[in-house]
Amino acid sequence: MKIPFSPPYIWEEEIEAVTEVLKSGWITTWPKNQEFEKKICNFIWCEKVNLVSSATAGLETTMRILWIWEWDEVIIPAYTYTATASSIIHVWAKPIIVDIEKKGFNISIEEIEEHITNKTKAIIPVDFWGYPINYDKLNDLVKKYPRKNWNKIYDNIWRIVIISDSAHSFWAIYKWKKLWSKWLADFTVYSFHAVKNLTTAEWWAIAYNFWKELNEYIYKQIKLWTLHWQTKDAFTKTNWNWEYDIIFPWYKANMTDIQAAIWIEQLKKYPNILQQREKIYNLYNEWFKKLEKKWIIELPKWINGKENTKWSFHLYPILLSEKLKNKRNKIIEELQERGVSTNVHFKPLPLLTTYKNLWYKIEDVLNSLDKFEREISLPIWPWMKKEEVEYVIYNFLKLIGNLNV
Ligand SMILES: Cc1ncc(COP(=O)(O)O)c(C=O)c1O
Repeated sequence: MKIPFSPPYIWEEEIEAVTEVLKSGWITTWPKNQEFEKKICNFIWCEKVNLVSSATAGLETTMRILWIWEWDEVIIPAYTYTATASSIIHVWAKPIIVDIEKKGFNISIEEIEEHITNKTKAIIPVDFWGYPINYDKLNDLVKKYPRKNWNKIYDNIWRIVIISDSAHSFWAIYKWKKLWSKWLADFTVYSFHAVKNLTTAEWWAIAYNFWKELNEYIYKQIKLWTLHWQTKDAFTKTNWNWEYDIIFPWYKANMTDIQAAIWIEQLKKYPNILQQREKIYNLYNEWFKKLEKKWIIELPKWINGKENTKWSFHLYPILLSEKLKNKRNKIIEELQERGVSTNVHFKPLPLLTTYKNLWYKIEDVLNSLDKFEREISLPIWPWMKKEEVEYVIYNFLKLIGNLNV
């Protein structure tokens, strides 16, 4: 059997929707993007959304419109993908890399507080594997730190800004608040990359919820920063309305209607997709709980109180016990030989060359190191068959047996 790690799910409807756009005479940004924006806002009860090409582009643009710049500091977890940090470097600010909780995978709020200085302008938490961070605690914390940055957005927020890297947590729910809300983060950046719960191949959405005038201002600003700072988009420039200007020499990171068409179809299936993912998660859990009782592995679990909170089951990360940790790579290799693809999330930033070169030290984030050394992400995708899940479990158990633990 071959079990891929997380294949994209594309149905006939997506193919038909893309074909329709290809035949329509308009394939770059416009009608389907607008439909996408409306649909996502209704789905997550959010006021406004901009679509951008990557997390890096989304996080960077959000920091640009906030005027985060040289000498400013932005706090992030060590346990994340490079995009969370590199976007800060792109705006010339300094990433302050802090450790995760001892028990969980998410950023430690206590560690954040220890690292706040006068220069801290924003915090970018990551909802690892789709499990929301403790937003109540984080919001209580930022309220204690007033900030201004001489621009319209800070003039309205007046404190350290929360920009959530919600790559894994589209439609995760934190205490009945869907993961967009103004009670959770000021800006929430969602991923629709090929391996994510819901896909457009690549592309991201930045969601925010202020009031009408400020939302419109932010929307236009992000549009400019992601379209060359050109005063008119391609659609508006048609129909004899060609005249335009460029205010800054900037990037282009807009979404095409081809991608938007895929997403619109995928969204219809999303509640079902989430249910399916939860089923797979429960199947794994049934078997692996026995191993947990024997202290062989640790399973993903609730840490911050689970009332009215639901994760998006984006990953199924297990942690090997201390005695198995030096066998982690061997287990991954042997599973691969048996046709089971797995992954490791994440290699902490200070272990990557670029961050080492910037003097970040792994000794400062030992909880992240510990998780990394013991973590394996098992395959999880909707409509994974029961036999396929059992094949993963069977091979994992067999390997553990062969390792005599
Ligand atoms: C936490 C996190 N942030 C960001 C990204 C992706 O960033 P980008 O779209 O810039 O490659 C990922 C991976 O898809 C991720 O897991």
